[in-house]
Amino acid sequence: LTVDASGASGRQIPETLFGIFFEEINHAGAGGLWAELVSNRGFEAGGPNIPSNIDPWSIIGSETSINVETDRTSCFERNKVALRLEVLCDSTGNNICPADGVGVYNPGFWGMNIEQGKKYKVVFYARSTGPLNLSVSFTGSNSVGNLASTMIKGSASDFSNWTKVEALLVAKATNPNSRLQLTTTTKGVIWLDQVSAMPLDTYKGHGFRSDLFQMLVDMKPSFIRFPGGCFVEGDWLMNAFRWKAAVGPWEERPGHFGDVWKYWTDDGLGYFEFLQLAEDLDALPIWVFNNGVSHNDEVDTTAVLPFVQEALDGIEFARGDQTSKWGSIRASMGHPEPFNLKYVAVGNEDCGKKNYRGNYLKFYGAIRRAYPDIEIISNCDGSSTPLDHPADMYDYHIYTSANDMFSRATTFNRVTRSGPKAFVSEYAVTGKDAGQGSLLAALAEAAFLIGLEKNSDVVKMASYAPLFVNANDRRWNPDSIVFNSFQLYGTPSYWMQLFFSESNGATLLNSSLQATASNSLIASAITWQSSVDKKNYIRIKAVNFGATAVNLKISLNGLDPNSLQSSGSTKSVLTSTNVMDENSFSQPKKVVPIQSLVQSVGKDMNVIVAPHSFTLLDLLK
Ligand code: AHR
Repeated sequence: LTVDASGASGRQIPETLFGIFFEEINHAGAGGLWAELVSNRGFEAGGPNIPSNIDPWSIIGSETSINVETDRTSCFERNKVALRLEVLCDSTGNNICPADGVGVYNPGFWGMNIEQGKKYKVVFYARSTGPLNLSVSFTGSNSVGNLASTMIKGSASDFSNWTKVEALLVAKATNPNSRLQLTTTTKGVIWLDQVSAMPLDTYKGHGFRSDLFQMLVDMKPSFIRFPGGCFVEGDWLMNAFRWKAAVGPWEERPGHFGDVWKYWTDDGLGYFEFLQLAEDLDALPIWVFNNGVSHNDEVDTTAVLPFVQEALDGIEFARGDQTSKWGSIRASMGHPEPFNLKYVAVGNEDCGKKNYRGNYLKFYGAIRRAYPDIEIISNCDGSSTPLDHPADMYDYHIYTSANDMFSRATTFNRVTRSGPKAFVSEYAVTGKDAGQGSLLAALAEAAFLIGLEKNSDVVKMASYAPLFVNANDRRWNPDSIVFNSFQLYGTPSYWMQLFFSESNGATLLNSSLQATASNSLIASAITWQSSVDKKNYIRIKAVNFGATAVNLKISLNGLDPNSLQSSGSTKSVLTSTNVMDENSFSQPKKVVPIQSLVQSVGKDMNVIVAPHSFTLLDLLK
């Protein structure tokens, strides 16, 4: 590998090149990054008609002690379903309640992780026909072990109308498979609605589960594309994500059934929270909105203006000042300053649809006029043929085999250097080469990203997909980060992406690889400055996609031979004994980068690049 290390022929890589794509898929948000512990907190998941299914809520008590049903008496206009508990037993008389009481419990998303010493805020709305004596507790499954509890008491007049209850529970013990119980031993009728339980230790109190949030911080993403994906489109428009239903007080949000990934979301993680997430990650938000097209139905271009207005209102929500209609709602939610929204994508994977071009042009014209600085992303792939419509960027999605992904390292060598830039907003090796996240997949993707880095004059952004999977609801394989209520690990593709975090804004060095024996090798060189020690490094990345080791000779030209320092120079290698190896909850670090010190550095170096490996050398200048 010959590198012009002087930097004279180098080129700056866009600050935006490597980011993340968050889609509400696999319970990534509801039951994942969004730390709400209660599933179906408003009892709306069974639909607006009553009686309805209250799953996953369950009844504690028998037919002779309690009647539980839904009715439509909620105080919240956009989600009228409430839970009615008619308690038939009492603490005295001839129908005595069980000692632990009767009521309901919620198991959360495959168990709530309650941790000793941690605090949990429980909020709900209640109404009753008589005095209220309600025990609120976290217990293990089967009601075993009281982890934390409190009694909510009130006179009949206190709860004759809907009343908000807030309680702070401190856990006495740990159980990752807990549930929230609301029980009583007092006869009468109680209504419950909007029952929420959140850990207090979310990032800045913003509601993001801290361990999953930290995994994102470690990626140093320059942008976050959200909230989908197909989640934005819906199988049917009536089930698409609509931002106006996902802002304002959480209790008032209707929630919706995401019909593509087949689960209900209460939409606590809504449009505001996505913008907040971007800000907390110091990443640029990229908002993907519905353009009047779903998987199965479409709005005609002649009727799409209400959708255009909805998008304009969404931009005003993010960017408008506090006196604007939608900006004032953002301000009322605790964010008076505008969010830094500079990129929007018109739809997701809709280019081939009948009305896409017509609809797109309506959105493009209106947004361009109102917000000339916003960059607009088209769904149509401009890498093979030039776009027939104006756009600042075009979307490129690729899910493929490992060999094909490896070969696509050169795809962008061939695209025109003028015109809109590419946003590779979804890429991953899928199918049998990937399993649930193999080393093989990560190596092919690393080669592809090296290709993007080298073509970053025409590729402005790239993100892996999907980001998260709750192991209890795998809708898509593989994913970057796997979790359940209390465990998590990165797949090899997650760790592979970390090798590119420092590329954003770095200088790409001109380099050429003379492959004598192997065409399974791909390599690049950058220089970057650490924000931690402010020192400059030359970073060489090399993927060996083949089964034999390669002796890589590196020549760093144009560099004062004494300017490289052994001390502080490191080598990190992502490999494993078998190329199909994966990480798991039991072996979360089976395939992770191993870092070592580089003993001797110089203008000319020989590095053994292990079979099936991704190697990174950071040479301190
Ligand atoms: O990443 C999973 C899905 O793949 C996305 O929802 C969609 O855009 C693509 O088809």
